[in-house]
Amino acid sequence: MTKRALVTGVTGQDGAYLAKLLLDKGYMVYGLHARRATDTLWRLRYLDILDRVHLLEGDLTDLASTIRSMVKSEADEVYNLGAQSFVATSWMQPILTGYVTGLGAVNMLEAIRLTNPKARFYQASTSEMFGKIQEPMQSESTPFYPRSPYGVAKLYAHWMTVNYRESFGMHASSGILFNHESPLRGIEFVTRKVTDAVARIKLGKQKELRLGNIDAKRDWGYAGDYVKAMWLMLQQNAPDDFVVATGRTTTVRDMCRIAFERVGLNYEQHVVIDEKFFRPAEVEVLLGNPAKAKEKLGWEATTKLETLRHMMVDAELERGRREG
Ligand code: NAP
Ligand code: GDD
Repeated sequence: MTKRALVTGVTGQDGAYLAKLLLDKGYMVYGLHARRATDTLWRLRYLDILDRVHLLEGDLTDLASTIRSMVKSEADEVYNLGAQSFVATSWMQPILTGYVTGLGAVNMLEAIRLTNPKARFYQASTSEMFGKIQEPMQSESTPFYPRSPYGVAKLYAHWMTVNYRESFGMHASSGILFNHESPLRGIEFVTRKVTDAVARIKLGKQKELRLGNIDAKRDWGYAGDYVKAMWLMLQQNAPDDFVVATGRTTTVRDMCRIAFERVGLNYEQHVVIDEKFFRPAEVEVLLGNPAKAKEKLGWEATTKLETLRHMMVDAELERGRREG
């Protein structure tokens, strides 16, 4: 029988890659699609899957939308990727972030509980929950200490996922994913902001790149690898929580250097530090321990940071040349 999946946040970076993965596996894929005045479907077009994803209009903050999406999709598997996911914005819109990123997950859990409690649920948890890190390498047992309204909202959603699993026996799993990037990354996130600037500088359209704290360190992987871990979690007999990471951490500075070097430029001649991009509270360093995911899911990050940076710069140059 054809499996049916519902993906919230289907128009986002991960939603698009996950939808492609599920379609390739023969799933019928439904996507919750929040109405916007502007075009948000470019990623589904980029992967050439727009006509194969069944879009269901709705918003995560609206319980009726989540219930209706469960009824219409008759989903066996639900991947909750929808969120206000930009950390910096969460200080400007803390309440909206709480509604979408925190309560939105509960709206989805309630919809499942009311319509089909046997459906399997994936929650997009995050390394931001570790925030001010309590251990040098973060695993499933590391205590949480979120540092932003986004991290706090995600932690609420994370514990609600655990709670629905323990209270109602639901197959609800949480993937604690560290940063993952791709050519489909939103332009506001630092890796894509950098590759966009590298291409524009190389093509003579821009001179400088303004950044905030370039000493921050992140454990960066490739989104195409990470969506496989999401799917694997829902194929397990029992629900659980998993850290998904590469096990290597790099400064924003070095990530930048790699991208500029791809086109023969020196980042030091173009990067300008701008206070505007510093955050009220910073997550200085993240480094994940993916041992449990490797052992239980057989999952491993396969794309090195250098390969990822080259892939993103090349895609950006291609875009730049196309746009003229
Ligand atoms: P993204 O590109 O920002 O995508 C977020 C998605 O959520 C978009 O499709 C967006 O729709 C949708 N959305 C926003 N508000 C909504 C609402 N009120 N109702 C329904 N949908 C709404 O994020 P991503 O990088 O793909 O990440 C996917 C998920 O993983 C997010 O929950 C993120 O917080 C989490 N996560 C990401 C990372 C990472 O490094 N990428 C790491 C850990 C966890 P529009 O396009 O219409 O705005
Ligand atoms: N965005 C941005 N822009 N970040 C900058 C800049 C800048 O100009 N300059 C320095 N940074 C630093 C940030 O302060 C942060 O330490 C780091 O670069 C990464 O920032 P982002 O790319 O915005 O990602 P993030 O780590 O805050 O959050 C992402 O990863 C989380 C998982 O750890 C998002 O995808 C979250 O949704 C996700 O949960």
